[in-house]
This record gives sequence, structure tokens and C-alpha cells, in this order.
Amino acid sequence: MMQTKMIVIRDKQYRDLLREAADILMSGGLVAFPTETVYGLGADALNPQAAKKIYAAKGRPSDNPLIVHIADEEEMGKLAREVPEMAKKLAQAFWPGPMTLVMKKREIVPLETSGGLDTVGIRMPSNEIARSLIRLAKTPIAAPSANTSGRPSPTQAEHVWEDLNGKVNAIIDGGPVGIGLESTIIDVTGSVPMILRPGAITMEMVKEVVGKVELDPTLLGNQEMTQRPKAPGMKYRHYAPKAELFVVEGKNEKVVEKINALIKEAQSKKMRIGLMVSRENRDRYPNHKSIDCVVLGSREDEAEVARHLFATLREFDHQKVDIIYAESFSGEGMAMAVMNRLMKAAGQKKILV
Ligand code: TXA
Ligand code: MG
Repeated sequence: MMQTKMIVIRDKQYRDLLREAADILMSGGLVAFPTETVYGLGADALNPQAAKKIYAAKGRPSDNPLIVHIADEEEMGKLAREVPEMAKKLAQAFWPGPMTLVMKKREIVPLETSGGLDTVGIRMPSNEIARSLIRLAKTPIAAPSANTSGRPSPTQAEHVWEDLNGKVNAIIDGGPVGIGLESTIIDVTGSVPMILRPGAITMEMVKEVVGKVELDPTLLGNQEMTQRPKAPGMKYRHYAPKAELFVVEGKNEKVVEKINALIKEAQSKKMRIGLMVSRENRDRYPNHKSIDCVVLGSREDEAEVARHLFATLREFDHQKVDIIYAESFSGEGMAMAVMNRLMKAAGQKKILV
């Protein structure tokens, strides 16, 4: 166990506070920091020993590559062997921001960072603390989400503390994140860009910029996972709360009816129940001490739902609920990313009504 230092940032004067964190990174240590998507667990991306420490702290399988974070677009060419035209266009459009581009890597990126692959995922976060830290450390920063492998990604510093206290040198607390789901990952090594993980940068947005876009087939529908997802991390069980979680999908009326029936059944077994519902439906479920009902957001606002999802899954662990039912959130924009994470958390268990 090591002593984990909490560095709290609540105003714009934080450069001096970041100095110490940057020094830790430069000497091969681990620092968790906020980004606009989720908190990241950072180490010097070009130092193989430092990258290895990330896997140990998270309990992460070593074939799961790390995303490399940069503060300036010029850094992309130093890490990627080829920067295709579409990568330049996407970077222009969405960086800094919640998008990771997978490109052929240069020698300088160690295999420890790329999980043994000959490609590297690169992202320029929009969070100012993150970019200042990268600039001060004078090196690109490898950073997966700052959770223990398998748990929901952290959307506030307390979540990082819960998982990684004693395992990292420092945690920078920059308050709750804005987006709440991890970045959109786009593979630009082929002739058409392919989305490997959906996020706040949607398919429609990508299409707008580069004309064409494909989806990793393993992201489509409920088919059995016979194919390997192209982002190695997508094959692992993820975000799992301790209690079993079921997503209920169908026409809204039917969904509400079904969840009410499931509540009755669970209550008859003396179970504690967690619910994840839309604001529009909240009043259609009973208030009872056996039920922890959380409004994720409005059905009209997928971004709000996204922001609350991971924290809610952690909250249900604290509340020690026995079973969780979630409404399904289909729709436009971020809905695809929301459903991707929700279905993963549910171990793909869906009740169709
Ligand atoms: O928003 C985010 O992307 C956050 C913040 C901290 O930036 N990071 C994040 O990292 O979500 P992580 O490690 O939890 O997820 C990285 C995902 C994994 O599924 C991994 O397999 C995939 O990105 N990935 C990374 N490099 C890749 C590569 N070269 N080829 C294919 N997939 C890659
Ligand atoms: Mg992760």
C-alpha cells in the first residue's frame, strides 16, 4: 500500500497544485485526474514500467490497451505512424473532446501501453485540468478509466478513492465530470472509419464530418458474442453492480406495467429493489422503503441519463440492493452509448415486453 494524496481543485488557480502531480508522472508514478468523460488513471505513456503499474493498480488484463492522452494536436503525429486525412478532419472537428482515434503506432509507444497491438488510441481531452497536467508532465499520458477493472467508471473523485486508495500516488479531484460515459472510439486504420465504442460523439456527428462511418458489428443488436470486438476492452464484463440487473424494454406503458409487477414479486421475496427510471415515469412506481428509485434523467435528454448512470450503479452497491430493474432508453444522440453501457452492466439481460 502507498499513501494516496488527494489534490482538490475548486477554482482556476491550480497550476501550482498540478506541479506535484506532474512530477509524480515524470518519475513514473500514477496520478488519477478528471476528464470531461470519466476520471482517468494516468501514467507516462512512453515509459513501459509506468504503464505496467496501471494494469496492476486496476487489476486489468494486460491485453487491454490504454488510451494515450495528448494536449496538442501536433502530438498525434509523434505517436501515430500514419495520420490519415479522415483522422485530421475528425480531430479538427471534435478535439479537444470525447473522441479517441485508433491509428498505427510508432515505435516510441511501448507495447505495454498498446496492449501488444501495433495501433494506438489517441485522445485530446477538453478538460482544462487534464490538458494542463499533460503539458506540465511534458509527455503523453496513458489513462484508462480510474476504476478497478469490472466496476463502473468513476464520474467523481470519491469513486476513484473508493477503488484506488492506496494503489496510486495521487488523485486530482476536479469535481464531477460533465459527460459521464467514456469517449467514442473510432478506428481510422481502414478506408472507412469504424466506431468501436459509442460515446458522446455520435455516429451522425462522425458521418457529418467524413461522409461514411461503420459500426463494429459486435455493437449491433443482441447477437451472441461470437465475434471478437475490435476494442479488446469491449469483450470484458463491465460496470457490473453487485446485484443482478435487468433492462426492461418495450412500449412505455408495458414497461411501467412490467416493472410494477416485478417490484411486487421481489417484495414478496423480501428483496431490496433498485430502480433506474425516467423522470416522466417516476410517479408511476410506488414509494416504499424497500425500493431505491433513481431518476436517471428525462427521456428527452439522453445526456442527462448518461451523466447519472455510473454513479447510480455504484450507489446501488452502497445501498446493498438485491435486484435492479432499469427502463430502457432508446432514441437519438447518446442513446446508443447509454444502452451499450447499460446492457453491459446487465450482462446483456433484457426483459422484452
Ligand atoms: O473517455 C475515455 O476514453 C476514458 C478517459 C479517461 O479518457 N478512458 C477510457 O479508457 O475509457 P479505458 O481503458 O477504460 O477504455 C479504453 C478502451 C478499451 O476498450 C480498449 O480496449 C480500447 O479503448 N482501446 C485502446 N486502445 C486501442 C487500440 N489501439 N485498438 C482498439 N481498441 C483500443
Ligand atoms: Mg474502462
